[in-house]
Amino acid sequence: MQLTTSRTSNYHSQRVDLYPAHQRAIWRRKMTTTAIIGLGNMGKGIAKRLSGETNLVLSSRNAETAIAFAAALGNGAEVLDIDNAVQRADVIILALPYEAAIEVAKHSGLSGKIVIDITNPVKPDFSGLTIGHTTSAAEELQAIAPSAKIVKAYNTVFASIFDLPAAQTATVPVFLAGNDHDAVSKVEALVTASGFKAEKTGALDAARLIEPLAMLNIRFGYALGRGTSIAPAWQDL
Ligand SMILES: NC(=O)c1ccc[n+]([C@@H]2O[C@H](COP(=O)([O-])OP(=O)(O)OC[C@H]3O[C@@H](n4cnc5c(N)ncnc54)[C@H](OP(=O)(O)O)[C@@H]3O)[C@@H](O)[C@H]2O)c1
Repeated sequence: MQLTTSRTSNYHSQRVDLYPAHQRAIWRRKMTTTAIIGLGNMGKGIAKRLSGETNLVLSSRNAETAIAFAAALGNGAEVLDIDNAVQRADVIILALPYEAAIEVAKHSGLSGKIVIDITNPVKPDFSGLTIGHTTSAAEELQAIAPSAKIVKAYNTVFASIFDLPAAQTATVPVFLAGNDHDAVSKVEALVTASGFKAEKTGALDAARLIEPLAMLNIRFGYALGRGTSIAPAWQDL
């Protein structure tokens, strides 16, 4: 018996693993491979929650820091340059500032892949969004990468929330929007595995609504002084 990080919960919890190493290796081969591009606050937060739930590939401009982070994360997380990460992954998470995500969206390797857009196109002083109403960051990325399957996710959740135990965030909604039904379903599974409640909002134009919702959350957190331990809630009454 070996004590390993649980595949069914988050990185805070542990369980006694009853399965032999070769069985775990087979599961790993069947798991989705997810690349996270950009290891800032959100990239690291999502990586911690997805560690052990997917084959993780990390890509950063600073390979040395990324290798140290991957080693601390465990569960076989790999560090690759952006070209190899994009090639290897089934799902690519752009954990980047909006402007950097726009540049990465030009990468030809994204064609046919599921690409998760977590960005909020915020003004430098966080006073509002730079685009909206008639378009969204997600739709701009889709226009640049028309063959990629862009799915909006995670943009309404503050980075600090990812450090909470998964049980505490299981009812926190992560709003999903995308034009490809299968891609949205796969992202739904990843979001659930990362310890959040996936809320499907329809086609990608719903990002026009989800991005301002993130801005409202930022307003609560900073301008209205409620801190970054808050998240939207959505209820059926
Ligand atoms: N922070 C939040 O609470 C939060 C919540 C929801 C959504 N978001 C959105 O998530 C995205 C990432 O936010 P974050 O808070 O993780 O930002 P961050 O801490 O600044 O990290 C962004 C990372 O992107 C990479 N990067 C690549 N090109 C870059 C460039 N030209 N300029 C700056 N960084 C570049 C860097 O990673 P490497 O150095 O590893 O390459 C950097 O650490 C943003 O679009 C943000 O709007 C943030």
